[in-house]
Amino acid sequence: MAESRTIGVFGAGWVGLVTGGCLAELGHKVIVRDVVPDRVAALQAGRLPFHEPDLPEVLARNSGRIRYTLDADELAGADVLFICVQTPPTYSGDADLSYVWSALDDLPRAERRQLLVMKSTVPVGTGEKVRAALEARSLANVGYVSNPEFLAEGTAVRDFMNPDRIVIGAFAPEDAAFVESLYVGIETPVVQTDVASAEMIKLAANAFLSTRISFINEIANVCELVGADVESVAQGVGLDHRLGPHFFRAGVGWGGSCFGKDVSALKQLAGNSGYHFQLLAAVIEVNELQKRRVIAKLEKHLGRLRGKTIAVLGLAFKPNTDDLRDAPSLVIASRLLAEGAVVRTWDPVADARERLQGATQCDNILETVRGADAAVIVTEWNELRDLASEQVREEMARPLIIDGRNLLDPQATRLAGFAYEGVGRPTSPFEALPEVAEREGAAKPPVRVSGPVEGVRGNREVPPARN
Ligand code: UDX
Repeated sequence: MAESRTIGVFGAGWVGLVTGGCLAELGHKVIVRDVVPDRVAALQAGRLPFHEPDLPEVLARNSGRIRYTLDADELAGADVLFICVQTPPTYSGDADLSYVWSALDDLPRAERRQLLVMKSTVPVGTGEKVRAALEARSLANVGYVSNPEFLAEGTAVRDFMNPDRIVIGAFAPEDAAFVESLYVGIETPVVQTDVASAEMIKLAANAFLSTRISFINEIANVCELVGADVESVAQGVGLDHRLGPHFFRAGVGWGGSCFGKDVSALKQLAGNSGYHFQLLAAVIEVNELQKRRVIAKLEKHLGRLRGKTIAVLGLAFKPNTDDLRDAPSLVIASRLLAEGAVVRTWDPVADARERLQGATQCDNILETVRGADAAVIVTEWNELRDLASEQVREEMARPLIIDGRNLLDPQATRLAGFAYEGVGRPTSPFEALPEVAEREGAAKPPVRVSGPVEGVRGNREVPPARN
């Protein structure tokens, strides 16, 4: 058990609440401060403003050790102040640090030395800037440590309590040791380093994870052209202990609040420092194209999408979260709407009604697929595993499933009477439904073109003829 400390947390967002809740679980006293009155009031009433498994239980179990406030001065007695505010991307792709600076503006005047611990993902060099800002404000008595989070949505509590590593970057070794002592009880390697390297570890980790996914997505796209199966390829490659199996699932592209933001921030940081990070530019572009490939797959079977009804199944950027930030579903549904399709959407928790004006969000899967010309699996929710059922087939106008997450078994889906297209799985151009093929001329083998697609370059398949 760690020696109990008093910990202040700036920001009652997702990172702040997971961090605060888990530090309380480790035995510390936690005061979470946010600037949004409604949010603080909701938390005080025991309501969580977002969906994160296990977090409500952790917060409830430790309610005696956590309190929420609007008043930063209540943090004056804390030993440590965790900064857990957002760092969204600016128009230039840099990270917007304005929330970090306003947290610094609100730092309480403490009698004794306090330690500022940066959990938010920030550009390399931020620690130095914060240190200079603290000195300029005569707050030289405040120490600074970078302690990035590696929490994934949906598993954040588990990731916090059982991390692969804890990274601590400090200017002074005693500050690093102090932060390490807060985590006593968690068995994991601790990487103690300088502040800039800790900042870089976080950005590089997310950039590499995104790179792996863009890589396997490109392999999948080539698999489609040459008749290989990306599922077997990923398994065969991932068993190499030097490569490993994780983050190697092909799909409709990565999304979420971190990958896009952090990859851009790292690319921009390199650019600002005079280095063109070519690989990351490709990683981003591949991801943009990957989302749009769904449209070409639909066109292959249905011809023009104008007036066709498409069921978009799954909206959250991944299962077990209601988060729509950078979700591939938004790009896919918007493209369908732009093509003139009738878009019906479903998600068990995410609500995209405001963001997808023009689409109809339905309450259940059957209602969504009713009368649909195709169903597209965008998020691999468990509820979609049984999609290839007789009931669904009967509800759909045409039994066509585009499986953007390779969730279903292709053979079983075909045997159940559906036309099926996965990602990077062998697919026959002659799979278009016979009546569609006849009417739309869509069953001929696709022609491959390269050239600009909506502002991004790359290859895509297009149907040879349109009426
Ligand atoms: C990520 C990092 O995993 C986490 O360490 C960091 O702190 C924040 O960013 P998160 O955004 O919650 O976490 O989601 P993650 O589980 O990493 O998935 C990101 C995206 O990649 C999702 O859209 C997911 O569907 C996609 N993905 C993931 C794939 O397409 N293929 C994979 O193999 C893995």
